[in-house]
Amino acid sequence: MVLAVRHDPLHQREQLTTNHNSPVKRLVLLGSTGSIGRQTLEVVRQHPEHLKVVGLAAGSNAEALLRQAAEFPEAKLALYQNHPAIPSGMGALVDLASMEEADVVVVSVAGVIGLQPTLAAIEAGKTIALASKEVLVAAGELVMPLVRAKGASLLPIDSEHSAIHQCLRGYACSDVAEIILTASGGPFRGRKRDELRGVTPQQALRHPTWTMGGKITLDSATLMNKGLEMIEARWLFDVPIQRVRAVVHPQSIVHSMVRLNDGSVLAQMGWPDMRLPIQVALLHPERRPNNLPAWNPLDTPELTFEEIDEEAFPCPALARRSAEEGGTMPCAMNAANEEAANLFLKGQGTFLGIAEVVREVMARHRPVEVRLDTILKTDRWARETARELIRNQPRTLHG
Ligand SMILES: NC(=O)c1ccc[n+]([C@@H]2O[C@H](COP(=O)([O-])OP(=O)(O)OC[C@H]3O[C@@H](n4cnc5c(N)ncnc54)[C@H](OP(=O)(O)O)[C@@H]3O)[C@@H](O)[C@H]2O)c1
Repeated sequence: MVLAVRHDPLHQREQLTTNHNSPVKRLVLLGSTGSIGRQTLEVVRQHPEHLKVVGLAAGSNAEALLRQAAEFPEAKLALYQNHPAIPSGMGALVDLASMEEADVVVVSVAGVIGLQPTLAAIEAGKTIALASKEVLVAAGELVMPLVRAKGASLLPIDSEHSAIHQCLRGYACSDVAEIILTASGGPFRGRKRDELRGVTPQQALRHPTWTMGGKITLDSATLMNKGLEMIEARWLFDVPIQRVRAVVHPQSIVHSMVRLNDGSVLAQMGWPDMRLPIQVALLHPERRPNNLPAWNPLDTPELTFEEIDEEAFPCPALARRSAEEGGTMPCAMNAANEEAANLFLKGQGTFLGIAEVVREVMARHRPVEVRLDTILKTDRWARETARELIRNQPRTLHG
C-alpha cells in the first residue's frame, strides 16, 4: 500500500488517479471460485460500469471456473492443477497476474501459494487487492520493498486492514500509536483449554459471524487468524509488531481501531460482510452506493471487548513471537500452521495440536535472510516437518 510506502495515505489517491485513467478497472481474480472470489464477482455485478473481469484463476475446481468463464466470456483463465483445456500450473497463474490488459489483481487464493503471482503482479505495475494474508505473513520483508521500488499500490481486502486503511485516510503512519485488531473469538470463545480437547473439524468450522473458506474459518477458531493479521498489519502500515494488538469483539461490528499519538481512537464499523471491504478496495478511492444492508447503531446497542485467553488460544502469541524473531521465522510459522490446519480438516491431528505443531516447527527453525529462494525452501521444510510431527508424535500433539 502506498500508505506503507510513503507514510502518507494522501499519495495513494494521486497515484491511483494517475495510474488508472480508464473509468473501468480491469480485474484479474486469483482464487475466483473461493469465498472471497465469489463475493468479488458479486461486487463486479453491482458495478459493471466501473469493474470488468479480464482474468479468472482457481486451484483445482475446473468445473466452477468454467461456469464463471461462461458468465465472463472475455476473461482469460488459469488453473493450478493440470487441465487439458485450461492453461495450468504456477506459470499460468503468474502469466495471468502480470497480463497486459489488467489494472488490478485480486489475490484471494487460500494460503502462501499466492506469493509468486503477487510478486509478478507488482513487478508488472499492477494494483494489488490483497485478501491472502499468508503472502505478507510469510514474505512481507520481500513484498513491501518491491511495492516501494515499483511505486505500486497494495490495498487490503481483509476487513480488519480495510478498516484501518479507511481510518488512516488523511493520516501518516507516523501518527499511529497503536493498531487494535478485533477478533470475533470464533466458535470456542469463552472455553478454557481443557474444554478444547477433542473438538472436531465440524465444530471448528461453525463460525459465529462470518462465512468463509475452510482454512480461514479454522484459523479463526484457533485465533491464528488474528496472529496472521497482526503480522499483515505490521507490514501494511509499517508499524513495529509491538504496536499491534488484538482484542475479542464478539459482535464483529467494529472491524478494527487505530489509536493516534494524541490518544484519539478511530474505528470503522458495519455488518460483518466481506462485500464492503472488497468494494472499498476495488473502487478505491471512490465511495459508491450499493445494495448492502446498512448498519444502524440501534441494531447493535451493546458492543463489548475482551482480552484474548492466551492459554486456551496460544496461536496469536506464537505468531507475534515469529514476527519478533523475523527473517524466515514467520514463513516457517505460517507453513506449519497451514499444513497442520489442512491436515486437521482432513481428520489428522487434533485442534490443540495445531499450536503445538507450530511451536515445535518454530523451535526447530533457524531463521535466515528473506529471499524468494529461502522463503520457498523454508515453506517446504516447515510443511514436511509439520507432517512428520503429526505422523510420528500423535500422542505428544494430542489435545
Ligand atoms: N473468506 C473470507 O471472508 C476472508 C476474509 C479475509 C481474508 N481472507 C483470505 O482470503 C484468502 C482466501 O480465502 P477464502 O475464504 O476465499 O478461501 P476459499 O473459499 O478456500 O477459496 C480459496 C480459493 O483459492 C483457490 N486456490 C486454492 N489453491 C490454489 C492454488 N494452488 N492455486 C490457485 N488457486 C488456488 C481455490 O480454488 P479451488 O476452488 O479450485 O480450490 C479458491 O478459489 C485466504 O488467504 C483468507 O485468509 C478471506
